Amino acid sequence: MRGKADHLDEPSRPGAPTQPSPAELLVKMNEAQHLARIGSWDWDIGSGGIWWSDETYRIFGVTREEHVPHFENNAKFIHPDDLEAYRRNFAHSLETGDALDFDVRLCTNDGHIKTCRAQGKVVLSDGGKPSRFIGTLQDITALRSAEQEQRNLEAQLIQSQKMESVGRLAGGLAHDFNNLLTVILSDAELLLLENDGPEGAPSREAILEIRTAVEHARSLTQRLLAFSRKQVLELTRLDLNRALVELEKMISRLIGKDIALVTTLSEAPVEIEVDKSQLDQIVLNLAVNARDAMPRGGRIMLRCANAVVEERAGGDLEKAPPGEYAELLFQDTGCGMGPDVICHIFEPFFSTKAPGRGTGLGLSTVYGIVRQHGGFIEVEREVGVGTTFRILLPSARPLPG
Ligand SMILES: Nc1ncnc2c1ncn2[C@@H]1O[C@H](COP(=O)(O)OP(=O)(O)O)[C@@H](O)[C@H]1O
Ligand SMILES: [Mg+2]
Repeated sequence: MRGKADHLDEPSRPGAPTQPSPAELLVKMNEAQHLARIGSWDWDIGSGGIWWSDETYRIFGVTREEHVPHFENNAKFIHPDDLEAYRRNFAHSLETGDALDFDVRLCTNDGHIKTCRAQGKVVLSDGGKPSRFIGTLQDITALRSAEQEQRNLEAQLIQSQKMESVGRLAGGLAHDFNNLLTVILSDAELLLLENDGPEGAPSREAILEIRTAVEHARSLTQRLLAFSRKQVLELTRLDLNRALVELEKMISRLIGKDIALVTTLSEAPVEIEVDKSQLDQIVLNLAVNARDAMPRGGRIMLRCANAVVEERAGGDLEKAPPGEYAELLFQDTGCGMGPDVICHIFEPFFSTKAPGRGTGLGLSTVYGIVRQHGGFIEVEREVGVGTTFRILLPSARPLPG
């Protein structure tokens, strides 16, 4: 039997790959680098000159004619936020001989931002002095965005599970609580009937206060029930344009004179099936929040339109499935929110407002109502530019005939 080693020693047969020439090797290396998106570089420390492989030029998005690699000259492609780390990491390796390994973002001439992993090591001369710095640059943009996507999905899943369980808890509590309140209220009414003492008598006043407090408590539990989607909806078919026009007066009264209200309607009717009083709740809650976010005045933009959601891009759980929707945009020019606030705003009792100023039930109510109508809500923000709520409610089915 012939061993493997004999086989390797055999002179190459015709047709089998032969040992490539140096020029062919270079081509093969370039092909491999391109496939793996890994470029290489070689920095001659004495002269400052840097050699780049073809793939490194490609990653930087420049040609050999356009760019002469040099440590400082390359810095113009480094994302401003990464510039300090770029200098620090190279300086550290040069000083200590430690391996170089860090992520850096490049801003290419065509406006793209690429995330790259730079790795390298210092090569010492015979005298023990650093003579070269060699390394690689790998374009990991796709990898990182896939990882980010995955993290987003996981966060969304956890968030929707949380909302679901909080909703169940709040709904159960609110339901039982509401029943107790009904008993208290009817007893208070009974006492009022039996208490025929004079108007203003202390006991009568006390009963009236009980009644007011219970009614207030009832409206709180109603909001919790809305959040947990346990409301009984009275659906009517209406044109969102008209509903908004009707609401304008009430919104204006709520927001005061320092805030302008700009409503943009759609030319075509925007037909939906909603519980009108719940729709009012949505808009008014958003208006109150917008007002609170603009203590020194500003602008609210309210817009509605028919919208089509195309095939889902990713597997976003909270995103609307493809179909026809009525889109309601509610924009303000207020203080906006940080990411740490945004991730909690739809939770009941989450409020950043001073005690007594906010219940934290506004947006959770809005969320519950929107979801109970088969709709979706998301918040968009640009730091320092205010807040935009985007609500999608399923379009009403076309009328037969
Ligand atoms: N338009 C907005 N601009 C800035 N922050 C907002 C806006 N709407 C809501 N928020 C934030 O979301 C939180 C929760 O809102 P909400 O559920 O209505 O409760 P509340 O208004 O009682 O605090 C608010 O405390 C606030 O921090
Ligand atoms: Mg509110």
